Amino acid sequence: MLGVCVVGTGRAGLIHARNFARGVPGAHLAALVDPQKEALAAAGGELGISRCYADFREALKDPEVQAMVVVTPTRLHRELVVAAARAGRHILCEKPMAITVEECREMIRAAEEHRVVLQVGFMRRFDPGFLAAKEAIERGDIGPVVQVKSLTHGPSVPQPWMYDLAASNGPLAEVNSHDIDTLRWYTGSEFQEVYAVAGNYRCPEARADYPDFYDNVSLLARFRNGMQGFIGGAVSVGYGYDSRVEVLGARGLLCVGRQEQGSVTTCTPEGGIVRPFVKSWRNLFQEAYAEEDRGFVRAVTEGEAPRVSGRDGLLAVQVVEAGNRSIREGRPVTLPEL
Ligand SMILES: NC(=O)c1ccc[n+]([C@@H]2O[C@H](COP(=O)([O-])OP(=O)(O)OC[C@H]3O[C@@H](n4cnc5c(N)ncnc54)[C@H](O)[C@@H]3O)[C@@H](O)[C@H]2O)c1
Repeated sequence: MLGVCVVGTGRAGLIHARNFARGVPGAHLAALVDPQKEALAAAGGELGISRCYADFREALKDPEVQAMVVVTPTRLHRELVVAAARAGRHILCEKPMAITVEECREMIRAAEEHRVVLQVGFMRRFDPGFLAAKEAIERGDIGPVVQVKSLTHGPSVPQPWMYDLAASNGPLAEVNSHDIDTLRWYTGSEFQEVYAVAGNYRCPEARADYPDFYDNVSLLARFRNGMQGFIGGAVSVGYGYDSRVEVLGARGLLCVGRQEQGSVTTCTPEGGIVRPFVKSWRNLFQEAYAEEDRGFVRAVTEGEAPRVSGRDGLLAVQVVEAGNRSIREGRPVTLPEL
């Protein structure tokens, strides 16, 4: 049984910790790490875990811990992943992989040198709907792909650490990393050129201290194989969690994603037709996160190549950096082949 330690017991950390506590074949939740005492105690209490560490380095000394799920704020990913690799621990690192391409390179090198698995948290690649669309593309159901449009709108106000673009890379990284990965996956190609525009329309509290922060972004892309891409990103939208993709082919269209939560529609003379909106990524991608964790354990215990590699993480960070540069400089940015 692979002993898994979840590092960071915030919003996304708890999803992984609960998955491993409930049961992932071949693994068990061995330990938790978080410097925030209350968050750590609450997670340990809920999940019945006594090996709770305030300092990551203590967990690395624990022989019960053979693998780590890194779910801290993004700016810490590099340091934690490199330390885990050096200590011989396998790693599932949440997206975005890191802040810069250089950091990603260091993480990949450390995992290779120490022969540990490094998987990156693009869980949409484990989602049944996203997978079915990929299969339809490969079967040629819509003919050759011409354009992929992907949007993610998040309902909540960003975590305070996300306002600082130098520390987080902003919504293109925190929200749209997933869309970037989906475009690479569905086009089967790499971004060649991007042009992005962005602004802060809904987060007035961030304007004074973080004038560069944007809560809405549109990114247009050309791929090396000639396909076209578009990404829409938004945070603090309030109405719900909205994640949809359209793949336009030479002879058809694929639409991925849903906005409706549950299957009940209420019809009244006053309200018309009312259906609840998906509230959170936690509900929409519940099965995808569980399958992602199972896939990680298979990669470690059965030697399967991780479905999402460090290189996938790095190439997404390259697009984030190019997109943010395009926003800053107000012009299209060409990406070098990596
Ligand atoms: N795959 C997804 O859909 C998804 C969804 C949400 C967040 N994320 C990613 O997960 C990461 C965390 O995001 P979040 O929304 O859970 O953030 P969060 O702020 O809710 O939680 C982060 C947690 O990390 C803890 N932490 C800080 N420093 C630490 C350290 N040195 N060691 C251990 N723990 C530490 C914090 O105390 C906090 O509890 C980010 O990289 C984010 O982009 C991914």
